[in-house]
Amino acid sequence: MIQGALFDLDGVIADTSVYHFQAWRALIQTNFHKKLPDELEQRTKGVSRADSLQAILDFLQIDVPQKQFEQLMIEKNQLYLQSLEQLQPKDTLPGIVALLEALQAQKIKIALASASRNAPTILAKLQLTDYFAAIADPAQVQAGKPAPDIFLAAAQGIAVAPKDCIGIEDSIAGIQAINAAQAFSVGVGSAQELGAADLLVDDTSQLKLDIIQTQFAKHIQN
Ligand code: BG6
Ligand code: MG
Repeated sequence: MIQGALFDLDGVIADTSVYHFQAWRALIQTNFHKKLPDELEQRTKGVSRADSLQAILDFLQIDVPQKQFEQLMIEKNQLYLQSLEQLQPKDTLPGIVALLEALQAQKIKIALASASRNAPTILAKLQLTDYFAAIADPAQVQAGKPAPDIFLAAAQGIAVAPKDCIGIEDSIAGIQAINAAQAFSVGVGSAQELGAADLLVDDTSQLKLDIIQTQFAKHIQN
């Protein structure tokens, strides 16, 4: 029996992962006059702001002093926040509200396990905050995804053992984090990228609780 559901946010609850990468692209264009290739998008998905910037600078083989690194993070977040200004409840991805309702109807506790420090703001804009019994704070965990820490913190926030939880993710780092936490991983995306997920769906409209429960039951029998 599933007792807890741990949600990623960007790319699962709302399509904000696109905005993250647009902000990185704009930042790098303005500061270094360089274009970021598409492949960096998946590599920065689910990854903390600092780790994402480091990955991008490593890719570009650019070294910056700590002060400039911090300034770049601030600037990126300002660009990202601008794109969130228009965010409304209707921007919640298909099937998510129905899934939250179904979980709640079955008394399955719901927690957020997002790497984003902007997650509480986004949940509020989407008017979804009340569904969440806990929001794990990425600033309080030691290691970001792919480490399990944020999922462990989210499970702890709802007082459910990770093995009794499902985790839902759209990123490679996120699926690795759920698997490392020993929860049941549900991937939203392609098998090419998220092949390590215990259950994979193409998009959020296919996140049906009955299907997830059936697969979860099979998984724990094995
Ligand atoms: C994750 C996103 O959810 O949050 C990453 O997938 C992002 O792209 C990370 O870097 C941190 O977000 P923020 O809002 O704290 O910069
Ligand atoms: Mg995500």
